[in-house]
Amino acid sequence: MTEKTGIEKFIRPDLASFGGYSAATSPETLEGKVAVPVENIIKLDANENPYGCSSRVSRALAAYPNFNIYPDDGQTRIRKLLEGYTGVAAKHIVAGGGSNQLIDLVLRLFINRGDEVINCVPTFGIYRFSAELCGAALVEVPREADFAVNVRALKAAITKKTKIIFLANPNNPSGTMTSPRDILEILDTGFPVLLDEAYYEFSRETAAPLVSRYQNLMVLRTFSKWAGLAGLRVGYGLFPPQITDYLLRIKMPYNVNVAGLVAVEESLKDIDYLMANVQAILTERERFFAELSKIEWLKPIPSQANFILCEVLKGEARELRQKLQNKGILIRGYFDQPLLRNFIRISVGKPEHTDALIKALKEII
Ligand SMILES: Cc1ncc(COP(=O)(O)O)c(C=O)c1O
Repeated sequence: MTEKTGIEKFIRPDLASFGGYSAATSPETLEGKVAVPVENIIKLDANENPYGCSSRVSRALAAYPNFNIYPDDGQTRIRKLLEGYTGVAAKHIVAGGGSNQLIDLVLRLFINRGDEVINCVPTFGIYRFSAELCGAALVEVPREADFAVNVRALKAAITKKTKIIFLANPNNPSGTMTSPRDILEILDTGFPVLLDEAYYEFSRETAAPLVSRYQNLMVLRTFSKWAGLAGLRVGYGLFPPQITDYLLRIKMPYNVNVAGLVAVEESLKDIDYLMANVQAILTERERFFAELSKIEWLKPIPSQANFILCEVLKGEARELRQKLQNKGILIRGYFDQPLLRNFIRISVGKPEHTDALIKALKEII
């Protein structure tokens, strides 16, 4: 290892090789590099909502008079609103700047350097990112070939040092579900389980009612996907009340900004509109899947979320992703992870996005 000089020698040495998180590409960074103007880029790489947010949100934010005042640090209003939405009492609820912030906060609460975190891979990359940043040792339990969690292997991976078991349901990037029976078996180990339901509104399966019964269950949700608020960063978690108390004490003050609070309030007033958009995405997901299935060099995986993972059977996924990007269509690629060699993940967009993507795929081949 090369010796660090100057200010770098004061930095945590374990971060020298820290790779960071490879976030989705922002269209504005592609100005002049793709065949279409930036505003015509079709963004299907981050599972965002193609219908945007409720117009009530935009109107309320434009009229909001108090951006100069800090939000309520105790989150009284937003927790009450989320109680109404989830049916879970406010004493179980903490809101965050995106559910990512709550993943980080939970790890900060539980992890001492060297503690173990169980991750059912392949899965959402933030679990690894945040766990490593907190100094946790990652214990990877590979999923089965159909992306099901290997519960036996997971239980065998538990040690005295285990602090958190991560489980995304539906899983990103596979879009597959873990059965309620498997979830209960994992909960019955007694170890803390962080069940990430970021795509709940698309899968419509939840463990939220179990939060009041299980001392070791933590459920994460977000407004990024179904409510179209990814840019405003609002998520929340359902926790045992003691964990809520800790999280409220260790979080940064004012972690959900007033724009996020206004957006949640207005979104929940416009729930029928937002759920109609969710339904449109679900309908389009079925058509998109059927269209992808007709392409003989792609193998789409049935999904319960707002994206579809596909194995690329002929040619290089990396090249395919780049060629689509050149045409102004952004998708996510997975090139060399175990179980994910040569895969692409595409968010479900509007019908015209499906049409443009299928046309581009046919031109590329
Ligand atoms: C499984 C999963 N959890 C959490 C998130 C992050 O959501 P948020 O925007 O609330 O931070 C995502 C976003 O892609 C996700 O796929």
